[in-house]
Amino acid sequence: MDLSLPEWVADWARDAPNLKVPPPGPKSKVIIDKDRKYVSHAYDRLFQFTMDRASGAAVMDADGNVYLDFSAGISVMNAGWSNPRVVNAIKAQAEKLVHSLANDAYYDNEADFAELLAEISPGGALETTFFGNSGAEGVEAAIKLSRYYTKGSEHIAFMGSYHGRIGNALAMASRIKYKYGHGPFAPGIYFAPYPYCFRCWFKQEYPSCNLLCVDYLEKAILEFGGPSNDVASVFVEPLQGEGGYIVPPKEFMPRLRKLCDDRKILLVADEVQSGLGRTGEIWECNSTGVIPDILITGKAAGGGIPMGAIVTKRQIMDVWRPGSHSSTFGGNGMSMAAGLAQVREILDNDLAGRSRVLGEHALKRLTELRDKYDIVGDVRGKGLMIGVEIVKSKKSNEPLYVPQIQGLAWRKGLMMITAGMFGNVFRIAPPLVISKEQLDKGIDIFEETIKETQAKMV
Ligand SMILES: Cc1ncc(COP(=O)(O)O)c(C=O)c1O
Repeated sequence: MDLSLPEWVADWARDAPNLKVPPPGPKSKVIIDKDRKYVSHAYDRLFQFTMDRASGAAVMDADGNVYLDFSAGISVMNAGWSNPRVVNAIKAQAEKLVHSLANDAYYDNEADFAELLAEISPGGALETTFFGNSGAEGVEAAIKLSRYYTKGSEHIAFMGSYHGRIGNALAMASRIKYKYGHGPFAPGIYFAPYPYCFRCWFKQEYPSCNLLCVDYLEKAILEFGGPSNDVASVFVEPLQGEGGYIVPPKEFMPRLRKLCDDRKILLVADEVQSGLGRTGEIWECNSTGVIPDILITGKAAGGGIPMGAIVTKRQIMDVWRPGSHSSTFGGNGMSMAAGLAQVREILDNDLAGRSRVLGEHALKRLTELRDKYDIVGDVRGKGLMIGVEIVKSKKSNEPLYVPQIQGLAWRKGLMMITAGMFGNVFRIAPPLVISKEQLDKGIDIFEETIKETQAKMV
């Protein structure tokens, strides 16, 4: 497989990183000052620079500094920033029709996109789609539909899970950070332990544990933990994202499938972050052999335009009658054109395969770092969805919250973001078109920052 950058990537983006002035430069500072005066401070704003343009796996700020991107806009730009197929689709659509009136009329790209999602759905078994505007809206739609279909009103979510910041999706988030000050939340959501084997909730070892966490869900939570036998759905991320890029054991998803089948509960796979090539598969569900009842997609599915959707079986979707659910902008012209173009680009260029190959290479290199540095506790992931968990020492295994690693890396030109319940997991999640050379360059910078951080601790 050719692992160099695609031809369309701009010249300036090829030798990233390339810093001209220490960031934030003077032009960035002017914009940041105005922003801080007028824009809500709710966003984290991890990088103190302004986005000016982006191409392939590189971003340029207002001062001409070029950064290597290990976050892909939080797993959105899977086919690469400014991919011409996506850009041209957006331009052509904008000239023709921006708001396609999905609520009240039909539109070609929406039908085409739904057809494509049905074709590529896990096992080709999910035939129909409802389009919304964000991952969280996809989650809300799945909650509503699973209640409508089963007549149940309760849900199982997992510790460490993240499903968005609004309504019931927020109620299903397990971190206080996300929920603080925003209650009360919907009742009837029960949290089960996710198989976070590096920090097992039950202090067990895999595989001898036989997935005690799933036994606990089945025998403790469902039977004695408070639900009223009215559980509509289990919401699971097949590879947990914000919780720390956690890969569960291979038996986990099949065990959930069986548990749901036995109890007539719907299994909802939230692939907003893990889907569309990120983990080396089109859907992470595919690598588990499990077909969910409802699949949620978002992020990369919109090609950079806001988008979220649920894909499900005809018999489930069809309980909704016209007017049961709706959205002014769902399935709108821009997100359909951009999303369809990006998904086709991922499929036509086997970017999932590329993610797999590059991911194996990165995992090998990062595992060497784990063996070399005491503060690197765990390295895990699939494809280009890799987490590096930082600890105080291998002996203590205590989480080490070190946002300064992020700052150090950024000043060297590498954009990395964190995840994890303790904020101590660094994500290796670049656009899938990144070259092997760029990936290595980024890992080299990451290693420098780890080395410097560990030296300071000593
Ligand atoms: C697994 C998962 N579900 C849902 C969401 C929410 O998506 P959005 O921010 O588009 O609402 C996210 C966002 O990070 C996510 O990672």
